[in-house]
Amino acid sequence: MVEKKNKSSRKSDAVGSSKENDDATSKEYSKNAEKVSWRQFLFTILGITAAVVIGICFRNSIRGPAKSMDPLFGSSVPVMYVFGDSTVAAGDFLMTPFPYGIDWPNGVTKNESKGRFCNGYTVADLLAKRLNIPIPQSYNFLDNKRVKLEGNGNNFASAGCGLLQATRPFVGFECYSISDQILQMLYGPKKWDAKARFDEAIYVISVGGNDLMFSLKGKDPRVFARQLGSEMGNLLKTLYEKVGGRTYFVNNVGPLGCIPNNREFSGLEKKCNQELNVAAVEYNRVLDEVLLNFSRISDDSTVVVLADSFKLFSLFLESPAVLGFSNATGPCCGEWVDSKGMFVCNGTSPLCSKSEREGYIFFDGAHTTASANQKFLEFCLARKICSVVGKLL
Ligand SMILES: *[C@@H]1O[C@H](CO)[C@@H](O)[C@H](O)[C@H]1NC(C)=O
Ligand SMILES: *[C@@H]1O[C@H](CO)[C@@H](O)[C@H](O)[C@H]1NC(C)=O
Ligand SMILES: *[C@@H]1O[C@H](CO)[C@@H](O)[C@H](O)[C@H]1NC(C)=O
Ligand SMILES: *[C@@H]1O[C@H](CO)[C@@H](O)[C@H](O)[C@H]1NC(C)=O
Repeated sequence: MVEKKNKSSRKSDAVGSSKENDDATSKEYSKNAEKVSWRQFLFTILGITAAVVIGICFRNSIRGPAKSMDPLFGSSVPVMYVFGDSTVAAGDFLMTPFPYGIDWPNGVTKNESKGRFCNGYTVADLLAKRLNIPIPQSYNFLDNKRVKLEGNGNNFASAGCGLLQATRPFVGFECYSISDQILQMLYGPKKWDAKARFDEAIYVISVGGNDLMFSLKGKDPRVFARQLGSEMGNLLKTLYEKVGGRTYFVNNVGPLGCIPNNREFSGLEKKCNQELNVAAVEYNRVLDEVLLNFSRISDDSTVVVLADSFKLFSLFLESPAVLGFSNATGPCCGEWVDSKGMFVCNGTSPLCSKSEREGYIFFDGAHTTASANQKFLEFCLARKICSVVGKLL
């Protein structure tokens, strides 16, 4: 990463210059020992002290970023690559008819809003905006043959899929698993431009929920969590070794049992599905370990930020009103369709009003509103749900 390299070269400069001062000082002593007045002596001592103090400050400012989120939010990241599922997807426009995208700033007529499972910006979009970099376009939305990827980043996320190859909402559903997404990046039909800047990029990863919802059934959640964790470990290893990624933003899995679609499964009282929530906790525990292990084996320039989605949504659900939300349980858009076992949101579904959309946590049966996503970013930046993994120096 350019910014980090600059910082580390500054580090050696700072250390180097205090050492030069030292050497110069001792030479001076032996040459002109008698001539050194107490004033000069004091001046030199102050000089050395200043150099040491400056050196320490530099070191702290260099070491600082490893512990803080500065590398992420200090605007040194020029480009973003996104992997995962519908929580961050941006190109599944055949599955997201109007009113998806209804609150996109420039309206739904612009193609850029298409393909998101949201009324507006996803967390990945908001993160890109916060970093002042282009919102990465969906890889699958682009023309497969003609487009040359020119360093504006890409979004490989694919709705319905997950960490495991077999994960999908039903047999025959078409989507790209994480390993497919990586293959697209490594060997896709499109040519990478030199401006792709893989080593300086931020890699946003938001995945795992679909695996728990669609592939867990009948399995031991602890064993299953380990299996998912191992896939996540492979993903990070590939991005690190083969792509050169050094900055990661990883989302854990929220309380899946409480999304509107899954409440409905658990009966008339519409309670959360605790089995799914327990599985989510189990997976998140393994994820913590996987990220910690990764941060240990990766080099010093590597930064992994964990966004604790589970914590945020637990807060949302516990006290929505305190956080400015009026509806934490039902979808803004959609009606329950028994045959599908989910809320379907399309142009003829019931839709909450524009002002209500600010207060709903869920836009459809499974996905959050732009205003909930905005709160996510806010809480992340305030370090309430985001933290840098490991690397305690
Ligand atoms: C929007 O996307 C459609 C389908 O991919 C394409 O035909 C159209 O030209 C695009 N419009 C704009 C304004 O980019
Ligand atoms: C993390 O690393 C430790 C020590 O190498 C290992 O025992 C553990 O299984 C790893 N955890 C995961 C989830 O990979
Ligand atoms: C939340 O929204 C759902 C569906 O849109 C509705 O049925 C429910 O009554 C709302 N709950 C509250 C507390 O407003
Ligand atoms: C919207 O979904 C409902 C429920 O699946 C369906 O009956 C209706 O035809 C759909 N409307 C449109 C415009 O696709």
